[in-house]
Amino acid sequence: MSFDAFKDFSMAGHNVIITGGAQNIGAGIAKTLSGAGAKVMIADLNGDMAAETAAAIAAETGNDCRGMACNVTSKDDIDAVVAATVAAFGGISTLVNNVGWGGRQPDPADIPEEEFIASYKLNTISAYRMSMACLPWLEKADNATITNSGSFSSAVPAYDILPYGTAKAALNQMMVSLAHMLNKKVRVNSILIGSVVTEGYADAGLAPEVIEKLSHPDNLIGRPGSPQDIANAMLFLCSKASSWISGQTINVHGGGAVVRLFGA
Ligand SMILES: NC(=O)c1ccc[n+]([C@@H]2O[C@H](COP(=O)([O-])OP(=O)(O)OC[C@H]3O[C@@H](n4cnc5c(N)ncnc54)[C@H](O)[C@@H]3O)[C@@H](O)[C@H]2O)c1
Repeated sequence: MSFDAFKDFSMAGHNVIITGGAQNIGAGIAKTLSGAGAKVMIADLNGDMAAETAAAIAAETGNDCRGMACNVTSKDDIDAVVAATVAAFGGISTLVNNVGWGGRQPDPADIPEEEFIASYKLNTISAYRMSMACLPWLEKADNATITNSGSFSSAVPAYDILPYGTAKAALNQMMVSLAHMLNKKVRVNSILIGSVVTEGYADAGLAPEVIEKLSHPDNLIGRPGSPQDIANAMLFLCSKASSWISGQTINVHGGGAVVRLFGA
């Protein structure tokens, strides 16, 4: 037998930058891409945690994985992580814009303008800047991709996290547009992620009873997501396995809430 169905999922020969990869979903993505053969640079606000996570991944996968401090809202930091990655790996083929965050708004009718601006800077504009900084290298690479950690809250009403939901919705539009701008050179896709319950939920201001409910969701699969669920989809979108897919947003959210037209 000579047919290898997993060949197109290999990331061997790929050089990855992943933002926000020091923990949770991003760390799961970094480990999976590394395990599939890529060289991976984790760029995270928390440089120490990025380096620790990268060292643990390299020990587990046997592939080159590094971590460094980078605030994706700073142009200087973005330029530094691009330069460090090219110096370490010789190029960039794969950008995963994973950074994102949004707190719950206690009063959705009175959100400070600064909250919206900060949310757009973190969730939307950082992905644009990262993409443009990596572009000269992506254009030279085989199977070049940009893939984003989007949110399902960008596609459903989410009035209590307005700055986050709208910034993530803007990310969807921006990235589909970039896919058209970069046609034939770089594939651009986004995953709209459902609930992957992490310690970040409490930090975002969710009450314990809300977190408990989200931990037992009424979705089609009947469980919350795990970082590995997202990482598996990310591997598909970053690898040649998805080489005929660009400009798409893909829901990875347990199938969404169960709809019962006539009650239980
Ligand atoms: N967890 C979920 O349920 C969920 C749902 C939908 C979408 N998402 C999206 O998935 C992505 C990852 O989510 P998560 O829950 O793993 O997040 P997380 O908060 O657990 O981890 C985010 C990482 O990003 C880093 N970071 C924060 N600000 C940064 C900055 N300015 N520059 C560089 N790094 C920074 C943090 O240090 C952290 O390591 C985010 O974009 C998030 O919006 C998550």
